[in-house]
Amino acid sequence: MDLRLQFPVLKRIVYLNTAGYGLVPLVSVKRVTKILRELCEKGARDSGYEEKVLEDARVEVRRLINCDPSEVFFTVSTTTGLREILGMLRLEKRDAVVSFDLEFPGVASVVKTFCSRVGCELRVIRHRGGIYDVGDIEKAVGDNTRVIVASSVQWVNGFLMPLRELREIADSVGAYLVLDVIQHAGAVKLDVKEVGADFVVAGGEKWLLSTWFGVGFVYVRRGILDELDAPPLGLHNMKEPSVKWSYYWFDPSKDCWSLLEPKKTAARLEWAGTPPLLGVVGFRESLAFLNEVGMERVHEHNIRLKELVVDSVFERGWEVVSFTEDRERWSSITTFKIPGLSMEDHFRLVNMLKEEGVIAAARGAGGLGGIRVSPHLYNTEEDLEKLFSGINRLLTSL
Ligand SMILES: Cc1ncc(COP(=O)(O)O)c(C=O)c1O
Repeated sequence: MDLRLQFPVLKRIVYLNTAGYGLVPLVSVKRVTKILRELCEKGARDSGYEEKVLEDARVEVRRLINCDPSEVFFTVSTTTGLREILGMLRLEKRDAVVSFDLEFPGVASVVKTFCSRVGCELRVIRHRGGIYDVGDIEKAVGDNTRVIVASSVQWVNGFLMPLRELREIADSVGAYLVLDVIQHAGAVKLDVKEVGADFVVAGGEKWLLSTWFGVGFVYVRRGILDELDAPPLGLHNMKEPSVKWSYYWFDPSKDCWSLLEPKKTAARLEWAGTPPLLGVVGFRESLAFLNEVGMERVHEHNIRLKELVVDSVFERGWEVVSFTEDRERWSSITTFKIPGLSMEDHFRLVNMLKEEGVIAAARGAGGLGGIRVSPHLYNTEEDLEKLFSGINRLLTSL
């Protein structure tokens, strides 16, 4: 199968901005369209179908990150998922949350407003040249730290956080480790059991090829479900009654205020009412597509492209923002700077490239920045050659 045929837009443009939005494969679009057509022509299927679609999607999440389907609930986006997670942790005034200065502004916003609402302390660790020092993290984490919130891969420069050390540090004070994996899951390998995170959360719109489906997932490590302050439960959070749903709906003797039994799985924390099923259908299909290609292969491909980006940057005497030799710390995001060019020039360059149909991104935060490229399984060496030859040409007109 030629993967690129799944992404017709690639006939027209060079797309190197999956860290912004991922491309959606044709298989997913066709599947969602089919369900929509069925809705028009036959009407909706029953709620058993909804449950099946959700369970199938959970299985694909399992294949992706090595969790159990019972540890997964779906949400809308990374930010919404994170808000749900924080809202379930029983934090008090005396507690502290630790996070990092390069976190995505939407994540920072949720964490900061959450802490001010609870009245607890927030400690934000500063990067050193785009990298986080384990010693700095150890110092910032204290006995009252209840939660560490981090993106496993940083959005500005693609730095892969020291995940093993984060787990150890969290364990040393009994804190939850909450990871935003939106720039990680689907891009390079992620095994949540190996990482030992308590929660991971990701929207579908980047490396999971599910842009605008409005679906992401949250993983909740088994065993901590009962520690959580779950939001009020809706019918979708309940188990099917022994009389089965069809009879339940009919049953004239039913007392609507008599609660059914809550699900024992993370689905207890999911949407309380009718789920956004079209999005889940598309999300499932995109995850299945990724899983069929296989994360091993995607990882190797993306790291190989990263290597080409890094080599091309160094060959030209340019600078990789926060470069590390340690390949274990490589993600599929690379940000680079061209010496002698102002940050605004980088911004202009990216816009000029866009006009020529080469899509990269200009990104910055915390004093860092440059041109961010984020190739995925649908990109080729040729795409990168076009990017670099385009930059070389445009540099003469800046
Ligand atoms: C690291 C990181 N976290 C969160 C987000 C926001 O994701 P969402 O819109 O799914 O909440 C982004 C978006 O770029 C991101 O890069």
